[in-house]
Formats: sequence, structure tokens, C-alpha cells
Amino acid sequence: MDSHNANIITPQERLSLRRVIASANGKGGVGKTSVVTNTGTLLADAGYKVLIVDLDSQKNVAINLGFVNTEADDEGQGLFNTVLTGTTLQPAKNIRENLDVVPGGTQLNALGDLLVGESRRGKQQYRGGVARAIASIADQYDIILIDTPPADHSVHFVDEAMIAARWVIAPLRPERKSVSALQALVRRFNDVADLNDEVQLLGVVIFGVTAGSRMSLAEKDTREDLASMLGDIAPVFSATVRNVPAADADAVRRGMSVVELADAATRQTPFWQALRDGKKQERRITGSANSLAEDYVALGSEIVQELQRQEDLYAAEMEV
Ligand SMILES: Nc1ncnc2c1ncn2[C@@H]1O[C@H](COP(=O)(O)OP(=O)(O)OP(=O)(O)O)[C@@H](O)[C@H]1O
Ligand SMILES: [Mg+2]
Repeated sequence: MDSHNANIITPQERLSLRRVIASANGKGGVGKTSVVTNTGTLLADAGYKVLIVDLDSQKNVAINLGFVNTEADDEGQGLFNTVLTGTTLQPAKNIRENLDVVPGGTQLNALGDLLVGESRRGKQQYRGGVARAIASIADQYDIILIDTPPADHSVHFVDEAMIAARWVIAPLRPERKSVSALQALVRRFNDVADLNDEVQLLGVVIFGVTAGSRMSLAEKDTREDLASMLGDIAPVFSATVRNVPAADADAVRRGMSVVELADAATRQTPFWQALRDGKKQERRITGSANSLAEDYVALGSEIVQELQRQEDLYAAEMEV
């Protein structure tokens, strides 16, 4: 049987997928993509070999990383072909140093149709195909991050991500209703259990907190709700992502990560110098990029620490 038709994930494939983290939540607009692109670029910069896989037809990964309409931007065609034919996945290389990307885009809609169609007929030739595709190259990377669409749009892609992943990071906004969306996500673990009974929640990221020195009431309430819901299943990361629309918009417009934007800000000509020299003002980078960059640095290091802690726990369990 062709490996792409063998609707299972082999133990060998499963092992190679152990550093795959999906960013997922039932809801849209909760920071799934921002967490992937910003922590992904940071980890690559820190020397990890990173792969980002975009399972969203909106291709926000390509937008955030600034490669829309370049040769790298294949609209998801490469991933689609690999899932269909079982050939080796060919990511877009060196989007940054140490960072490759499997782009998303409109071609994923065709794959979504196949997944929906076969599930209606009770078949699963393509289900798990994304996991098999990633497994074909996973050994080349230290960390693989998958960006997912909101589940209420394309639940099959969320499942594909969760079949491929060992870990899930769930970003959510500090609101009561996000906590119920997280409950819906936790239920999805059951839906993929036949192909992946190892995937676990690595942690929750509170996204879009009010910028300020004190913890907002909304964040406090959310932390309490999450603590009672999650118990010791998974931590809520202490690092949060502040709501800084100006810095986010500036980063997206320039196709830079927030940390890259903050770095660029330190290199821009001081405004007084530009004024003195009578130079035409280039569009200045907002000063608020720094605080948001700090958030992502803290979050990136907390994610790596938690991953390490979990892997150590798992290794210890295997020994007894
Ligand atoms: N720190 C921030 N402050 C304010 N707005 C932000 C910040 N980071 C991201 N945004 C904006 O918030 C929106 C949601 O972020 P993002 O795209 O990461 O969420 P998502 O969960 O991936 O959304 P979708 O479900 O549409 O894929 C986007 O418009 C993004 O540009
Ligand atoms: Mg997104």
C-alpha cells in the first residue's frame, strides 16, 4: 500500500512529529497566527531550526512575514500536492535565517473539500495527510509550529493540525466567552484520538490584554476561570501579549515580526536629526513596538521551557 494511502500515522512518523506545536482555538481573531509568526521568528533567531506550517486559506502567515506574492507564496499548492500524492513536502526555504515555511492560501480550499467529502462518505484516505506530509521532513527541524484557521470555519484543518501535533497552544482573549471556546477545543482532542492519542495542551496564552502595569480585572477573571477549568491539565502562561494596535499594524504592514520591528526602530534616524538635516520624513516606527516585543520574548522563552519540562517528565515516565 502507498504510504499516503495508509490512513494511519506510523510509529516512526509519530516519533518524528514530537516537536510539532499547533496554535489552535475554536474562535477567530484570538492571536493564533500572531503567536506562531512572532514566536517562530524569535526561536529561529535564537538558533533553533524552525518550520511554520500555515493551514489557513487566509494565508496570514505569509502576510505577517512579508512574503505575499513572492515566489515563496504558493497559495498552499505544495501542501495540497503532497497530501494528494504522498511526495516529499517542499517548504519555502529561508524565509528568515533558520526559518522555513509551508505556505497556506486558496489551494487549501480544494484540500478542505476533499476532507469534508470523504468524511461524509465515511472514508479517510486524506485524513492525517498533513501529519504524514510534515513527518516527511520533520527530522530537519527542532520545532514545527502549525497555524490553524478558526474551527468554526474549517474544522477539518484544525483536526489535521491536531493529528499532526504533539502539543497545542491555545491563545485566547481575556473574556468569559473565550473560556467556553477553549472547552470546545478541548473536545476536539477526542475527535482526533483515533489517529493521535498523544496530543496534549501545552499551555494557554492570554492575548490582547490591556497595556498597563497592573493586571486588569478581565485578565484576573480569565485566569481564575481557566484555573478552575484546566486544573493541572496545562498551565496558563504567565507571559501575555498586550493589546498594542499601532505596533501590530506597523509590523503587519511591513511584513515584519514585532521583534524585528522593534530592532528596526532602534536603527531609524532620530526624528530630530531627520528634521535638522531637512530630510523627507520616512514613515516612523511606533515607539510602542518595544513593549510588545518584550511580551513575545517572554512568551517564546516560556514556551520553550514548558516544552523542555514536559519532555523531561515524559522521558522520566518512560524510564520507570
Ligand atoms: N498585540 C496586538 N495588539 C492589537 N492587535 C493585535 C495584536 N496582535 C495581533 N493583533 C490583531 O488582532 C487580530 C487577530 O490576530 P491574529 O490574526 O493573530 O488572530 P487569529 O486567531 O490568527 O485570527 P484568525 O482566526 O482570523 O486566523 C489581527 O487583526 C491582528 O492584526
Ligand atoms: Mg490566523
